[in-house]
Amino acid sequence: MKRFFLLFSGVLTLAACSADKTAQADRKAAVSNPPQVLMKPNGAYQTPPYASAAARNPTLSLPSNFSPNAGVTFTNVANNGNFIALTFDDGPHPKNTPRLLDILRQRNVKATFYVIGKSVKLYPDIVRRIHAEGHELGNHTWNHPNLANLSDAKVRQELDSTREAIISAAGVRPRTMRPPYGSLKTTQRQMIHRAYGYPTILWDVDPLDWKRPGTSVVRSRILNGTKSGSIVLAHDLHSTTVDAMPSTIDALLAKGYRFVTVSQLLAMKDASRP
Ligand code: NI
Repeated sequence: MKRFFLLFSGVLTLAACSADKTAQADRKAAVSNPPQVLMKPNGAYQTPPYASAAARNPTLSLPSNFSPNAGVTFTNVANNGNFIALTFDDGPHPKNTPRLLDILRQRNVKATFYVIGKSVKLYPDIVRRIHAEGHELGNHTWNHPNLANLSDAKVRQELDSTREAIISAAGVRPRTMRPPYGSLKTTQRQMIHRAYGYPTILWDVDPLDWKRPGTSVVRSRILNGTKSGSIVLAHDLHSTTVDAMPSTIDALLAKGYRFVTVSQLLAMKDASRP
């Protein structure tokens, strides 16, 4: 909310300098396009200060509106830049997710979080923070079942309840889904795409971090597997995964990769492949 008040007082300041034409134009724009405040007031969450003086990853203002025709299933998205998407599944976790958010924030790196509905309900403030810091929220079901074994009605129950929990916590709708275990029949993917507009997001880099192989193994698997357009799978549920992230992300930055959300990556598909 702090940011909103700053913006609001900025508008008042601009109103005071009526001689300045640029300021007047800005004010007009602000009045005709009022800022959308999607988040509810949240006294419990304070944005932590940056730990480093300068962000290590440039801020990227890239579109995130992908075409409904972009596709039903993705494992990666070829693009003309070195854009990749880091994804974290099975959170939010009360300790590991905030720690990961600090790490991402220090580097100005944006990621996508495939959250579990029942955990969203337990930790709505963390979900709100994920969104507030520019990351994307994706639907990873309520109970983390193997969806391939479930009826369409049950699948929809899993997705509906999680979507509602995310909206209630962060004020935004998830725009993509990831099936637990990557398990989803083709007909189910099509049904979900039709009903929710969600593409099914899989991955092309899997460090098997949930087996807790140690931070250096997680890092080397990610570094060896990642190429332009990669979707990297990891789990913020595990402390060892979060431990591996600072050096992994720094090494990816050193290789010239730039981090975008899944929706931003999907929006590149049309641009890079006409
Ligand atoms: Ni999962």
